[in-house]
Amino acid sequence: MIKIAPSILASDFSRLAAEISMVENDGADYIHVDVMDGRFVPNITIGQPVVAAIRKITKLPLDVHLMIEDPDRHIESFVEAGADIICIHQEAGIHLERSIQFIRSLGAKAAVSLNPATDVNTLKYVLPELDMVLIMSVNPGFGGQEFIGFSIEKIKELRAMADRLNPGMDIEVDGGINMDNIREVVKAGANVIVAGSGIYGDGNPATAVSLMRRMAGG
Ligand code: DX5
Ligand code: ZN
Repeated sequence: MIKIAPSILASDFSRLAAEISMVENDGADYIHVDVMDGRFVPNITIGQPVVAAIRKITKLPLDVHLMIEDPDRHIESFVEAGADIICIHQEAGIHLERSIQFIRSLGAKAAVSLNPATDVNTLKYVLPELDMVLIMSVNPGFGGQEFIGFSIEKIKELRAMADRLNPGMDIEVDGGINMDNIREVVKAGANVIVAGSGIYGDGNPATAVSLMRRMAGG
């Protein structure tokens, strides 16, 4: 079962509630929230108050992608704000295993994201503790970038590793996914698909989630 997670980064923030209802009505599975701190990545985007506001207007799980340095400082406040899934970057802190346990201790689902240049093997030992791994298929920091081709190889490698170590784990892919390449991403082994411009930038955004699901073949 494929899950579609629209990234609100590409939505119109001046009418955020309507933009979220639109994808919810079209069958979105998660709302993907991109949190950027201006250090781990160049941009600054969304913080806890906005996550808390989003929590009030949707029933969908909030998939909070923390592109921030030293994420331990903010994990608890994002869970309090309503995050269901907390995704931290492998590259963003020093004690990854402790951070994962911290997320779990707060009752949230724990996910770790890998930048394009980071090897999936860096997660071998912590894989059994994770609910999800996010493969970044662009360098994080901006929406609307082009899908990096070697991500397909990484997804396949991770799927094989997960089959051995944590078969129930979700594999999420984020960056440059659209109607044309989603099938290949899913065939490689991903089951959670993030799309920002692929959904909000589509000519018919109100039906883009369901169309994307059809294009994914499931
Ligand atoms: C990039 C973010 C993505 C971004 C994806 O740093 O993590 O979630 O919104 O946008 P698209 O789908 O336009 O590449
Ligand atoms: Zn993201």
